[in-house]
Amino acid sequence: MKHKSIYAIAAMCCLASVQTMAQKTLGEATKGKFLFGTAVNMQQVNGVNAAESAIIASEFSAIVAENDMKPQPIHPAEDRFNWDNADKIVAFAEKNKQTLTGHCLIWHSQVPNWFFVGEDGKPATPEVLKERMRKHIHAVVGRYKGKIKGWDVVNEAFEDNGSYRNSKFYQILGKDFIKYAFQFAHEADPNAELYYNDYNVETPSKCDAIVQLVKELKAAGLRIDAVGSQSHMHMINPTVEAAEASFKKLKAAGVHILITEWDISILPSPYEGANISTNFSYSKEMDPYRDGVPADVQAKWNKRMLDMFNLFLKYDDVIDRVTVWGVTDNGTWLNGFPIRGRMDYPMLFDRNNKRKPIVDQMIKLAKKYKTIKKK
Ligand code: G3I
Repeated sequence: MKHKSIYAIAAMCCLASVQTMAQKTLGEATKGKFLFGTAVNMQQVNGVNAAESAIIASEFSAIVAENDMKPQPIHPAEDRFNWDNADKIVAFAEKNKQTLTGHCLIWHSQVPNWFFVGEDGKPATPEVLKERMRKHIHAVVGRYKGKIKGWDVVNEAFEDNGSYRNSKFYQILGKDFIKYAFQFAHEADPNAELYYNDYNVETPSKCDAIVQLVKELKAAGLRIDAVGSQSHMHMINPTVEAAEASFKKLKAAGVHILITEWDISILPSPYEGANISTNFSYSKEMDPYRDGVPADVQAKWNKRMLDMFNLFLKYDDVIDRVTVWGVTDNGTWLNGFPIRGRMDYPMLFDRNNKRKPIVDQMIKLAKKYKTIKKK
């Protein structure tokens, strides 16, 4: 007996070390905790950007389209859909055995104006807009039924002070446009998870408005599975405490949480939001790291990434996905927002497509957290 068990123990040890060693990527290290994803563009999906395409295929367990499933690119005219890019993203995810989520169905930005124009150029009536929303959502969600785990049904409907954003959807339909969107999405794919997505969810007044929305949707008998916190962060804000406070409120509201567009800008910022129409003029002071990031600043960014990632792991009972909004520092939207022409360093891979040291530190941290049974 004794002889056999030493072999057994030895075998178990190497299995454990093989498994531990096997967790070479964040996608692997977070298995059972949450999906670890990235936003993708067509250069990557088509393999034109082969280096980034390879990183996406090997490092991540989930993907989302950065732009190609939004209303403007996918439904540019009332009687015309552009399915090519979205179809290719679905095929890319299937080929790489990655979970695909949909971004996004109803948003005040990147939405074609025909949605809102009625006869003789007047604003569309509530009935007309509601029917156009139904047709759009049924067409897009219906086409990818069973291929997309869940949808950002409505994106960025609130201002940071908790008031409703005065979008054209809101102007014509009032706040009920959100209920209609969730109703239509569930009709189109009853098995798809449905999410409300926004930035600055860590801002108490906005988080309270989102919690109120969750309660109203549930009270109306409508499905909502999770709230997406975009998590476009800066070197100071939001604090870990503010993020945790929002997680506690959302968990108490009975929904799960998704970190949907995570990035931490290393640059000084004149504006701490993600409203794409915001823009500030360029200055050297606001673009200080064109020749690289000083070691002390890099260390601060690494610590901030680990502090936030540690918080996500701490809440992996309700956090189902952590998605970073891009792959390398080359392609990040933050090089052009809120000031065009800057050099930011918010991603996990550098401008030479090399993995940054932070990735192994995050993997090591993830290993410290036991995989728990999700509720
Ligand atoms: O596709 C056109 C191309 O034909 C044209 O030649 C080019 C020149 O202007 O523009 C291209 O469209 C750009 C599009 O990205 C695709 O690259 C738009 O100008 C540009 O504004 C758009 O930016 C995207 C932005 O959303 C638009 O709102 C960013 O890539 C994307 O990262 C960003 O993502 C949003 C999330 O969806 C929601 N949360 C905030 C986040 C950051 O703003």
